[in-house]
Amino acid sequence: MEAGLKGITLQAPGGLDRLVATELADPGAPGAAEIRVRIHASSLNFHDLGVVSGRMPTEDGRIPMADGAGIVEAVGEGVTEFAVGDQVVSTFFPTWQAGPPPVANFQTTPGDGVDGYAREIVVRSVDYFTHAPKGYSHSEAATLTTAGVTAWRALIVDGGLKAGDVVLVLGTGGVSIFALQIAKAMGATVIATSSSDEKLERLRAMGADHTINYRTHENWGELALKWTGGRGADHVVEVGGPATLPQSITAARIGGHIALIGVLTGRAGEIPTALLMAKHQRLQGLIVGSRAHQTDFVRGLEATGIRPVLDRSFELGEIADAFHYEISGAHFGKICLEF
Ligand SMILES: NC(=O)c1ccc[n+]([C@@H]2O[C@H](COP(=O)([O-])OP(=O)(O)OC[C@H]3O[C@@H](n4cnc5c(N)ncnc54)[C@H](OP(=O)(O)O)[C@@H]3O)[C@@H](O)[C@H]2O)c1
Repeated sequence: MEAGLKGITLQAPGGLDRLVATELADPGAPGAAEIRVRIHASSLNFHDLGVVSGRMPTEDGRIPMADGAGIVEAVGEGVTEFAVGDQVVSTFFPTWQAGPPPVANFQTTPGDGVDGYAREIVVRSVDYFTHAPKGYSHSEAATLTTAGVTAWRALIVDGGLKAGDVVLVLGTGGVSIFALQIAKAMGATVIATSSSDEKLERLRAMGADHTINYRTHENWGELALKWTGGRGADHVVEVGGPATLPQSITAARIGGHIALIGVLTGRAGEIPTALLMAKHQRLQGLIVGSRAHQTDFVRGLEATGIRPVLDRSFELGEIADAFHYEISGAHFGKICLEF
């Protein structure tokens, strides 16, 4: 038993000034089918921001953060998949192991419906973790749970991406940068957008074949379509939602796939449904993925050598500063917490 374990809790009704440093009790030894993990890193997502800002209300005293990576300290009876010393990363839906999605909410998601990883030690069923890619730092591993698996599922699982496909990614947040990396590793051509010319330059350095500033070019969908010679993108990783979807429908090819992932521009809005229908496009909503998707993704990362793009790290106690930084939009890729 360890005394004085550090953690962060969120006081209702939420707000960045309601994130409180708290001393937590040691959860003890793992029971059957459980592992005890020392968490060393987490990473910030738009979803976590929704929770801590109070936009997505949760229980008083909730420990935030969906992403957690660390080291197995002890294994319970019957655990064969993990051993002491293994490097692991958390799963977004511990109740979704494989197959079709059984969940349509965040009631079982750590850092939202149940306690998350802004703390040093957890004891949980093996379902809450997978192995991390070999050679990854804890911060790198912590970026996979939410942003990484989402990009993987959008392009590979739902999209069936193949070499030669054209992928359109929007903005330079965690999901979009992962999507760019996965698409390039699979031999796809990538069109990427950003509000910043400096970030567009970084996207090109990472292999983006064509870039568009969506702030100075409101008709970026038209421009993307034109760049493909009028054929359009095979896949769009749609993180914007209502205000960007009309442009994405324009940019996608006839029969193209639009992975509807994000709500950066709002939760509802007017969509040109007739154009979507006329273009025979497939609009697929998704929330992250299963534990099996994550295991496949980890194998894919090890084989391709993709390394997550880490923007900046904060200490656990600086969690509010980290979220203020995310709100500023200055980041490119992932913001992490290290402890
Ligand atoms: N469904 C899922 O499973 C799932 C999983 C993860 C995330 N998400 C959602 O996906 C979205 C992105 O999440 P994230 O964690 O990657 O966020 P993030 O890291 O905070 O990224 C935000 C970035 O999005 C870009 N952006 C903002 N407004 C935009 C717009 N109108 N058009 C294009 N890009 C825009 C900005 O890039 P620039 O600075 O380059 O302009 C900004 O830096 C959020 O809505 C989140 O809830 C969904």
